[in-house]
Amino acid sequence: MVHKVQGVVVRSKDAPSSIETILVPDPGPGEALVDIITCGVCHTDLHYKQGGITDDFPFLLGHEATGTVSAVGAGVTEVAPGDRVVLNWRAVCGECRACRRGEAQYCFNTHNATQKMTLEDGTELTPALGIGAFAEKTLVAAGQCTKVDPEADAAAVGLLGCGVMAGIGAALNTGNVGYGDSVAVIGCGGVGIAAVAGARLAGATTIIAVDIDDRKLELARGLGATHVLNSTEADPVEGIRNLTDGNGADVVIDAVGRPETYTQAFYARDLAGTVVLVGVPTPGMTIELPLDDVFGRGGALKSSWYGDCLPSRDFPMLVNHYLQGNLDLDAFVTERTTLDKVDEAFEKMHGGAVLRSVVEL
Ligand SMILES: NC(=O)c1ccc[n+]([C@@H]2O[C@H](COP(=O)([O-])OP(=O)(O)OC[C@H]3O[C@@H](n4cnc5c(N)ncnc54)[C@H](O)[C@@H]3O)[C@@H](O)[C@H]2O)c1
Ligand SMILES: [Zn+2]
Ligand SMILES: [Zn+2]
Repeated sequence: MVHKVQGVVVRSKDAPSSIETILVPDPGPGEALVDIITCGVCHTDLHYKQGGITDDFPFLLGHEATGTVSAVGAGVTEVAPGDRVVLNWRAVCGECRACRRGEAQYCFNTHNATQKMTLEDGTELTPALGIGAFAEKTLVAAGQCTKVDPEADAAAVGLLGCGVMAGIGAALNTGNVGYGDSVAVIGCGGVGIAAVAGARLAGATTIIAVDIDDRKLELARGLGATHVLNSTEADPVEGIRNLTDGNGADVVIDAVGRPETYTQAFYARDLAGTVVLVGVPTPGMTIELPLDDVFGRGGALKSSWYGDCLPSRDFPMLVNHYLQGNLDLDAFVTERTTLDKVDEAFEKMHGGAVLRSVVEL
């Protein structure tokens, strides 16, 4: 059977998104059909819309979602109809060279549904990050469904599906932040503030939030920043050094992904410290750094795809922290909105007014 549902589609570069009827097949082997409950609006959806990720239009947007499994295909054992799940974009294969050496968080061959969702005329859709959850139903690989406690608020925990996990994981997994560390986070949108929250969860004692918007800095304080710096008012590198005895922070996380923020991160870290790039650069951006500084300052320059998370390990653990009051995921949900207002939500994100708009289906 094919299900006719409404979904948010972008047909060409920079075109407005539109609600269209899409056709979603019943799950085949290894797939799951999911009734979407909530889906957050992430900057990556906007990157897709602007043609910054691939040219495979039309896109079915949305990927930070919570849903209920409504059907599964042959051979699926990890989830069953009725399960509350958060969708992920890292269904690991278990067989690639990363998986085989026990580093499944780097899996090079993650799974998505094999069948295609289409427009009514048969045009195949490219679902954002292999998910496509600004839709009443979506089809994913069963491994993209991570079972979570149904008691947890769907809008809040669904954000673990992408941006919030990326930020928390950039601190916990990639940056390996530890007790007593100093951490600076440049860019405090949903991802950066999650990195602030992750640094706090890890026991960092100095957490410096940097942004160009005071509203974001206020929010960062609420999630654990011990100091805030507006980089339009003063040099953030100098500011971070001043707050760390002149040394720089042990871990600096760039949650913007631009040459200037990366350069700031590079020089704002202590000797032998770690830089984590979690913001996604636009194709064509380049950086120039003196190679003797790269060598002489030591340490590690790392990138963080999806916070180097393993959804099966990290989502339930973070949901537990949320339910125990250690991780305020509710604070990330600035507004709840509807499917027809996704473009408005992009505008608000651009204007800096929200951390996350979450679409309720
Ligand atoms: N690595 C991953 O797996 C992953 C996952 C999700 C999102 N992302 C990326 O992370 C980035 C942030 O996503 P988001 O949803 O938080 O976006 P957002 O638009 O909500 O936040 C960006 C923040 O950066 C601030 N900013 C912009 N320019 C700045 C500058 N020069 N200096 C300091 N702050 C600046 C903005 O004021 C805003 O608060 C995006 O590039 C997104 O694509 C990466
Ligand atoms: Zn693999
Ligand atoms: Zn995202």
